[in-house]
Amino acid sequence: DETKGGVKGLVDSGITTVPKLFRLSPQTASQYGTTRSKSPCPFAVPVIDMKDLESRRAVVVEEIRRAAAELGMFQLVNHGVEESVMEDMMAEARQFHEQPTELKQAYYSRDVTQKARFTSGYGAVRRSSLNWADTLLMTPAPSDAQDHLPIICRDSATIFIGRIRKLGETLSQLLSLALGLTPNTNEFISTNLTTAILNYYPPCPEPEVAIAANPHFDTSTFTILLQDQVGGLQVFHEGAADWVDVPSLHGALVVNVGNMLQLLSNNKMKSAEHKVFANAIVPRQSVACFFMPPIDFSTMSTKMYGPIKELVSEKYPAVYREASFAALWGSLYPDLEGSLRNPVLAR
Ligand code: SIN
Ligand code: FE2
Repeated sequence: DETKGGVKGLVDSGITTVPKLFRLSPQTASQYGTTRSKSPCPFAVPVIDMKDLESRRAVVVEEIRRAAAELGMFQLVNHGVEESVMEDMMAEARQFHEQPTELKQAYYSRDVTQKARFTSGYGAVRRSSLNWADTLLMTPAPSDAQDHLPIICRDSATIFIGRIRKLGETLSQLLSLALGLTPNTNEFISTNLTTAILNYYPPCPEPEVAIAANPHFDTSTFTILLQDQVGGLQVFHEGAADWVDVPSLHGALVVNVGNMLQLLSNNKMKSAEHKVFANAIVPRQSVACFFMPPIDFSTMSTKMYGPIKELVSEKYPAVYREASFAALWGSLYPDLEGSLRNPVLAR
């Protein structure tokens, strides 16, 4: 199996061209946009400061509302996750990905129920070519102990996951307030940190014929993302009809709205399409934490999700019909279609 040692394994073996599995057709490469356009987009991703949240709550809620409605993406600073916690996570994630192939292979699996799973080309399951990426997918335990995670990154991941969980709770509240929901109703958005992934994108010998992460929407309610200083992440700005850089901002965390929140919010918040360029020079790392409604896997295909009732009125009729999580998940890999253009969701 060519991808068992990961993309890193391929690069270490000395390849000088992108192998077939990862190679985009010329049409797909130009459709994705594998190189930066020369004209800079005049739009910047909003940076939202969470300092003194208690006294500035109304301002922060309005900034979040606006960013979630217009772009579906923003960066948070002074969010309460210590820099040392983020640095340790990045350092140990790197150790995981840069350890000898045999040790990583112990975690290689296609079994999606594995709670720590190493894989390559993540997010590209139904596409003809794989992403230029190695990924460790982690399903956090509900408790504070994460004994199932690889020992090499367990300590930092346990602390990081704990902090991100807390930030996610705060963010759920802020997003709920931004939608005009009140804390006392059942309709307040509730989420769990369902999956955390450690991404490692090795340098690519031909970055113009590969993509680190293909253009996609997340299925999540929202995603909290830590990226390193390398850059390469872009988000699609519908108003500008152009891709916008999500610059590396020291100490910041990126948040993007996912399909679930676009559905729940009845289109008041928009799921952000995003992608990552491959680069020829240095490895890039990121950690993505996906927040979902609390999911009971036994009711994955029977429990239905739809626009929050308080957000549906005569003036704002439901834009989407209800869908099970299984159906939403099925729309994660949209091939060349956007997930939300998937017939499962359209009303
Ligand atoms: C992703 O959204 O799939 C990855 C984002 C990143 O690596 O920055
Ligand atoms: Fe994503």
